[in-house]
Amino acid sequence: MGSSRSIMVVAPGFPAGLIQELLADRYLPVPTNLEVLLPPGNSAPRNGLSAKEIPEGTLVVSAPGGSFFSSRHLQWLRGKLRPFKKVFLLIPQSPYQDASSALVTLLIFLMSGKAITILRPNDAVADAQAKAAINWQRRDAAGKWRVTELNRAVLIKEVRHFVWSKYPEPIKNLIKSVQLELGYYLGSCNLETDGTVPFNLQPLDASQEALERDAKYALGTAITWIDNLPGGEKFLRGKKVLEIGPGINFGSILTLACHGAEVLVTDRFLTPWDPEYHPKFYTLLKERLAGRWPGIDLSPLERIIATGQYPRESICAYTCSLEKLSGVPAESVDLVISNAVFEHLYDLQSAFAHLARITKPGGLGLHQVDFRDHRDYSRPLDYLLLSQKEFTIEFRERHGECGNRFRPREMWQLFESAGFEVKEFRPDIFVTEKYLTEFLERLRQAKKSRYVDYNVEDLRHVSGLFLVVKKLRENPELPENRL
Ligand SMILES: C[S@@+](CC[C@H](N)C(=O)[O-])C[C@H]1O[C@@H](n2cnc3c(N)ncnc32)[C@H](O)[C@@H]1O
Repeated sequence: MGSSRSIMVVAPGFPAGLIQELLADRYLPVPTNLEVLLPPGNSAPRNGLSAKEIPEGTLVVSAPGGSFFSSRHLQWLRGKLRPFKKVFLLIPQSPYQDASSALVTLLIFLMSGKAITILRPNDAVADAQAKAAINWQRRDAAGKWRVTELNRAVLIKEVRHFVWSKYPEPIKNLIKSVQLELGYYLGSCNLETDGTVPFNLQPLDASQEALERDAKYALGTAITWIDNLPGGEKFLRGKKVLEIGPGINFGSILTLACHGAEVLVTDRFLTPWDPEYHPKFYTLLKERLAGRWPGIDLSPLERIIATGQYPRESICAYTCSLEKLSGVPAESVDLVISNAVFEHLYDLQSAFAHLARITKPGGLGLHQVDFRDHRDYSRPLDYLLLSQKEFTIEFRERHGECGNRFRPREMWQLFESAGFEVKEFRPDIFVTEKYLTEFLERLRQAKKSRYVDYNVEDLRHVSGLFLVVKKLRENPELPENRL
């Protein structure tokens, strides 16, 4: 087990089948290539998962809690956790409702000294459960389970101030001792809770204002792509187009589908269908497209709205990072597009290898890349000061959302060595001279940074559009290389 692996911890009593549902829907930001670990003498908690119900290749740790709690289990778990850097603790219900197992499980993980991300059903689900007297099979109004993070402040409040009167005496005593321990550990442990669920998996804003904003953004992005295609929208008819990292909706690429392209998307954290957001969003987008291009074929959007999902005739969607995109056949895509995605790639060699593999010789790429430190856009180069070790931890814990800090020149070289010709890099955001001067002073002192001696001219551009073409093969005899 490598130190970069994640673990999902399932508290006892977690309903059978729910974990598969959560994993299948990709609500949880955890890898699915997990291993099954069950505590000795505790093969499966009542109502919980049993090993045979866990799909092959899935990995779950079932933690002992409540009445299972013992120093033997604690030792066992601590040993198992040692090689892992990060722990996801899924509390299937509010600590109000099953305090004994959730709290004891939490205590165990706090004691393991790991960074912990705590997830639990969102408030709507928790309330529904409370009303239904802990009916495990309850779903939220949309029939889906959701998880949100348990905010550190809320957790401390719940644990410290809740009156546990409904519990029998032995459990109350156990909880009291856990509360005492928690008071201590919460103060000293690295309890990482805020901002760790990837953006795409956080609840969507379905307010009219947000929908208008998102539709405008999707349309604007699609227009930029179309404007950069040879022949504009006519280029798209019958072409296969892949968007990498579409974000919370597929509005931009579906606009290209309405112009006659066959479209696919792939995202490391593919946003699941949200019945509150997506039908309204696509309906609004449809209106906007009809206004902009009268007579456009709106059927790709209409099918989606009618079925309440993404039918394959409209779009093919993969939950997969570009780094692992083996499901798309070689040399099958005419155009690959991305907007604010390449700065989040975590393994650029593999990602560019797949990009080159799937693109047809002569195929095009339009990639808008934001090279700023996403932790604070007003200090766009500050992450270059970190040592590689510090940055690797930061990048991993933020699911790459801070940006991978590759510079435009480095990305240019990656395109070229993967077999693309960079026709143009069109920068559109520049750092201010004031910030650059102040930053350079700090950079030259940052001896552990790989950018310590970096050429100042190469630091000025912090966003831009790459227009690339996949080179034809060397052999001029091959049919696709003949003019
Ligand atoms: C900043 S968002 C941009 C979303 C959208 N393109 C836009 O313009 O709003 C980055 C997107 O890339 C996705 N992403 C990040 N790393 C990725 C990877 N390695 N492979 C594929 N998608 C990735 C994220 O999940 C997210 O949807």
